[in-house]
Amino acid sequence: MGKTKVSATVMFHEQIASDVYSLYLQVGEMAKEAVPGQFVSIYCKEGSRLLPRPISICEALPDKGQLRVVYRVVGAGTKEFSKLHAGAEVEVMGPLGNGFPLDACEKDKTAVLIGGGIGIPPLLELAKQLPCKTTVVVGYRNADAFLWEELEEAADRVVIASDDGSIGIKGTVLDAMEAEGVTGDCIFSCGPTPMLRGVKQWAFEKQIPAWISMEEKMACGIGACLACVCESKEIDSHSKVKNKRICKDGPVFFAEEVEL
Ligand code: FES
Repeated sequence: MGKTKVSATVMFHEQIASDVYSLYLQVGEMAKEAVPGQFVSIYCKEGSRLLPRPISICEALPDKGQLRVVYRVVGAGTKEFSKLHAGAEVEVMGPLGNGFPLDACEKDKTAVLIGGGIGIPPLLELAKQLPCKTTVVVGYRNADAFLWEELEEAADRVVIASDDGSIGIKGTVLDAMEAEGVTGDCIFSCGPTPMLRGVKQWAFEKQIPAWISMEEKMACGIGACLACVCESKEIDSHSKVKNKRICKDGPVFFAEEVEL
């Protein structure tokens, strides 16, 4: 799988929730290589912020040579991205990371895709590409929700949860799954660590294989800062310790492989 750095053109950019933006980038061939769950690193123009920002791929549009990313403004780098207008050029490296295993769930089975907050965007391309039936469960803080309408188009079923109950079922994604009797044959999940921990435990109890994307813990995204190291069950053959770099070895892991 390739890893290229290109000068990408901003095709379309809009705010879709408070602090959440949807950005379409013309990236050429890179769009053909992208697998759901992979990410790209986007470089800031500002010289003092040299490390790129890793952002997950929300949609791949290979026919148009475009990738769509949906990101939340969390610091100076993403604040700078939020000001990009159509026609602007940005340096983009990718696709990076491993992505979700699309063949993990057979055609007549059901995959449950569970996302929280800014872990939701990669589930859109995943729901589009999985060959099996899909139930998507998404959790938001409140009604300031995004992407759920597009997920309803892409998936067979969508269940929504929110912390304050202003959209969907009040509670966590697991509360909503319980209330709606959601189950399946395999699980794919992306979101904040406490949510992933709950999903891993739930999957373990139900004996359902689960893959989780730990992209939330990434910083530089290019293996340079070691901020993303997580503890793994097995000793890594390269570093000889029980460590994995999320940006290099992940961000998607079989849930039982990693400690959360
Ligand atoms: Fe910097 Fe992985 S995010 S090394």
